[in-house]
Amino acid sequence: MLDLARERLAADFRRIRAKSLALCAPLRPQEWRVQSMPDVSPPWWNMGHTSWFFARNVLHEFGGYDDEFAHFEYALNSYYEGLGPHLPRTQRGNVARPSTEEVLTYRSRVDERMLMLLANADPSAWHRLAELTTIGLQHEQQHQELLLTEILHNRYCDVAESQLAYGDAPPLRPSGTPSRSAATPALSFVSISGGVVEIGHQGDGFAWDNELPRHRAFVADFALANRLVTCGEWLMFMADGGYRSALLWLSNGWSATLENAWQAPHYWELRGDAWQQWTLRGWRPVEPHAPVCHVSFYEADAFARWSGARLPTEREWEHAAQVAGFDAQAGNLIDDGRMLTRPAQHDVAGLQQLAGDVWEWTSSHYEPYPGYRPFDGALMEYNGKFMDNQRVLRGGSFATPREHIRASYRNFWPADTRFQCTGLRLAR
Ligand code: AVJ
Ligand code: FE
Repeated sequence: MLDLARERLAADFRRIRAKSLALCAPLRPQEWRVQSMPDVSPPWWNMGHTSWFFARNVLHEFGGYDDEFAHFEYALNSYYEGLGPHLPRTQRGNVARPSTEEVLTYRSRVDERMLMLLANADPSAWHRLAELTTIGLQHEQQHQELLLTEILHNRYCDVAESQLAYGDAPPLRPSGTPSRSAATPALSFVSISGGVVEIGHQGDGFAWDNELPRHRAFVADFALANRLVTCGEWLMFMADGGYRSALLWLSNGWSATLENAWQAPHYWELRGDAWQQWTLRGWRPVEPHAPVCHVSFYEADAFARWSGARLPTEREWEHAAQVAGFDAQAGNLIDDGRMLTRPAQHDVAGLQQLAGDVWEWTSSHYEPYPGYRPFDGALMEYNGKFMDNQRVLRGGSFATPREHIRASYRNFWPADTRFQCTGLRLAR
């Protein structure tokens, strides 16, 4: 039994760690060091920090921590005050060391030690070891998505002549997707009955502490849009002066719009008379049928008001996902390799695009569920201390690993965040 569990976890460890390095394959040497804005970490830091997570939280506790690892503590601790001082986030792009080579060597040493530990740890330690290793792998997957959004931003900030796509440009019209003339499936609202419903993670699988405990909540009857808001619909909002109509906006959102001169989603640029957008596959024409991506909560909220609708609460979203049977298999996720949003399909009844494509802003503030208990030990800082001034997003994006997403998953970002793969679905 234990041998099987050891082999399984070691196989997951090898596979998920290798995936992170594979995502770095297209990087040029200088690019490993770039931090194009404070929210973005350079790739060297991402590959180091995810290794540090295992070194500090697993090897340090269970054996296998190398004295040499101590040299990386300051640079690679992200925000755990309980684990010592750390390099401020804003400085990650300003240091030459640890060098990329040093970080990659550190990474492979940590891997060796982790695999030795997983193979040989005392059976009495297994339960907690497996629990912490699993958290480390889930953390690794969060950082895989972050890495892609960071590379997207870093490459966007290169001077125009040197901007390079991360992935190859696929044919603009890959077979199997609707042609430009085929209409987006009509927007319709699916009625969902509320009542006292159950919210939060259920079952034996992994969940973050913030998805627990499962609890009852009241949700009034509501209706949720069958699909995500599209770029075509966003163009109508723009044409109707959405970005210039103060009355559509929350006060902080209106200020952000003015201060940042928002006129379109992030990564959109008007070239000639056509909107283009910067994607992991380079500059592409804005696809009217594809879900809109890289909008802040404030923009999503203003759009919903303009539409005569609103954003769903996270409870409505999760209840609907449970009723509809949340299906990660159906979603457009990183495993599919598309690296772009995908238009809604015509032959799907009911709610679609719940999994993948874009993270969906909800109107809910990120707060603890009743009876919330943070992870034990140092990882109490993982999620709980960020339950302040952020909004919840649901469903995963085209940059999320399939095995990482579920109906109860709560992502969270500040309301003005645009560099993540964020969009919206309307509710009434
Ligand atoms: C859940 C994506 C907001 O980026 O800070 C990474 C994920 N937590 N390392 C973040 C996370 C710790 C988190 N988000
Ligand atoms: Fe992290």
